[in-house]
Amino acid sequence: MVQKYVYGTPFETEAVTARIDGAKGAPIYGEVSLDDGFCFICALGEDDVVYGLGEANRGINKRGFCYVSDCTDTPHHTEDLRSFYGAHNFIVVSGSRTFGLFVDYPSKLTFDIGFTCMDKLSITCERADLYLYVIDGETPYDIVKQFRRMIGRSYIPPKFAFGFGQSRWGYRTKEDFREVAGGYRKNHIPIDMIYMDIDYMEDYKDFTLNEENFADFPAFVREMKEQQIRLIPIIDAGVKIEEGYEVYEEGVKNGYFCKREDGSDFVAAVWPGYTHFPDVLNPEARRWFGDKYKLLTDQGIEGFWNDMNEPAIFYTPEGVKETGRKVQEFFKDPEGDISKMEVDALVEGLANNKKDYASFYHRVNGQRVRHDKVHNLFGYNMTRAAGEAFERIDPEKRFLMFSRSSYVGMHRYGGIWMGDNMSWWSHILLNLRMLPSLNMCGFLYTGADLGGFNADASRDLLLRWMAFGVFTPLMRNHSAMGTRDQECFRFEHVEDFRHIVEVRYRLLPYLYSEYMKAALEDDMYAKPLAFVYPRDAHAGQVEDQLMLGDEIMIAPVYTQNAKGRYVYLPEEMKFVKFMPDGSICQETLPAGHHYVDIALNEVPLFIRKGKCIPVTEAAEYVEALDTTDMEMIGYPGSTYILYEDDGIHKDYDNPANRKILKA
Ligand code: NOJ
Repeated sequence: MVQKYVYGTPFETEAVTARIDGAKGAPIYGEVSLDDGFCFICALGEDDVVYGLGEANRGINKRGFCYVSDCTDTPHHTEDLRSFYGAHNFIVVSGSRTFGLFVDYPSKLTFDIGFTCMDKLSITCERADLYLYVIDGETPYDIVKQFRRMIGRSYIPPKFAFGFGQSRWGYRTKEDFREVAGGYRKNHIPIDMIYMDIDYMEDYKDFTLNEENFADFPAFVREMKEQQIRLIPIIDAGVKIEEGYEVYEEGVKNGYFCKREDGSDFVAAVWPGYTHFPDVLNPEARRWFGDKYKLLTDQGIEGFWNDMNEPAIFYTPEGVKETGRKVQEFFKDPEGDISKMEVDALVEGLANNKKDYASFYHRVNGQRVRHDKVHNLFGYNMTRAAGEAFERIDPEKRFLMFSRSSYVGMHRYGGIWMGDNMSWWSHILLNLRMLPSLNMCGFLYTGADLGGFNADASRDLLLRWMAFGVFTPLMRNHSAMGTRDQECFRFEHVEDFRHIVEVRYRLLPYLYSEYMKAALEDDMYAKPLAFVYPRDAHAGQVEDQLMLGDEIMIAPVYTQNAKGRYVYLPEEMKFVKFMPDGSICQETLPAGHHYVDIALNEVPLFIRKGKCIPVTEAAEYVEALDTTDMEMIGYPGSTYILYEDDGIHKDYDNPANRKILKA
């Protein structure tokens, strides 16, 4: 059961699609105070577990830290980080009392989950203008499903998007892309996508191509497609200010950019230098910006990634002026009032500055809305612009779309990737823990930059991360400019990488089937163990294994030099290893704790008791996978319902899409 409480005059975020009437009285699970903004406070029992928050730091159990929903461009994913790129204000408290809360509030919101006081949960924000949804249910899993029904069906990508993708910031020319495509194809490592980062554009101008490097782009898109590789270009939030650039000129002429208080177009520097931000909260401007994606779909492009849409700001002219004054003061008199530390902080503070976010406006339903009051909705609406446009461009076709910034509601239009992580072992674990939390909030199509974005990846890190990435819906290797080359074929013993990516393709019919069932049934693709074994107290403590789909459990290796790992089995399971020679080892293990050996070039998974999964032959791209006569592994005599469709269109409810397979 869901109760909706209305405080003040909430902004309509359109996160919730179900019609829910306002409840009377006050929520029973906590105290609400409106004395100083909004505050919800409740006691936490000693053994209560708190789930949710989507893209957030720390564990699957969110208890013991303070999380701030405030979409931020941040490359430092350290343990103390409170805000990531997205804002997903849904939590479930499970224990002495079990209930869910969704706070539909588009600006900065703080979840103090037993951080200030170990036995208290508080949710606070500056303005008491919001919807609070309180969800009752038997179990956290049941509450998640109710929440998912409230917010509408999750985004469904085309099937090719479940293939492997290679990316790197720095591919500039057709030759660069040909080299990557060739590196994979020659080494027979399966691949379906190569991502185009900002250097494909002309001077980082959205929806343009560098003409010198990409003359006759449609022919190049075709050339890649002939090799069964799709090019996936990036689109950034900021539109470069440049006379003669069509997108800029149209936006200015029609008033489609965010405005300063005096009505002039707001200016912020990002990759292209000074830019304007399209006012994607204004439906007319959103439609206009969305239609621009057609400039690329007309040239054969079938997928995009939306970046810098928190929106990230490097600096503004106002910020530079003010900071410049103070910095000059320091240089004139280093022993004076301003210290070097202050100067450093000022320069650092030019980026993503709160003052800048409070200095521009959106136009929504004829009203002017100051950006900081709806800050967390920008990435959502940029991606919605694209999603709505795809419906107009080709309503029958699925496009690949994922974004960096997001809010609940955006999960209907695209997935997310987890942003600028590092080539750190600890980030494999962070990646794993975010996955079920994101699923709870509706984001099913997701994954991290495999191998890590910043810093240099070692071969073993990439292998272990990829062996986990086999199971994430978005399986993409991406890295930053200036870091060690990270494409699989750049490393020694390329056969090990080939094998791991091949396992992804062998499992793809199963992974796709489970993804589709989760999306179509408002369910989770990746779950904490506690959701499947609610009565097993130990399962509730496990933070480094996941249940995936209905049949399997995964337990990746995430420490360097490890030859295997400890794993907890809540019930008897088949321990399966995909061996480098293509064979599949299966061993039945009883419930309990085990140490299992897992070499660098093996991919492990566990099949639940009484279940089975299909495995096909590897292929070098998704379309070449043959699912007619698949091998069934797991428990003999068991059955599996395979969901399969053409992966292109939206004929999801066709009964022919489901077939029973027997082991
Ligand atoms: C930031 C994104 O997070 C990253 O993935 C991308 O490579 C850079 N922007 C450059 O576009």
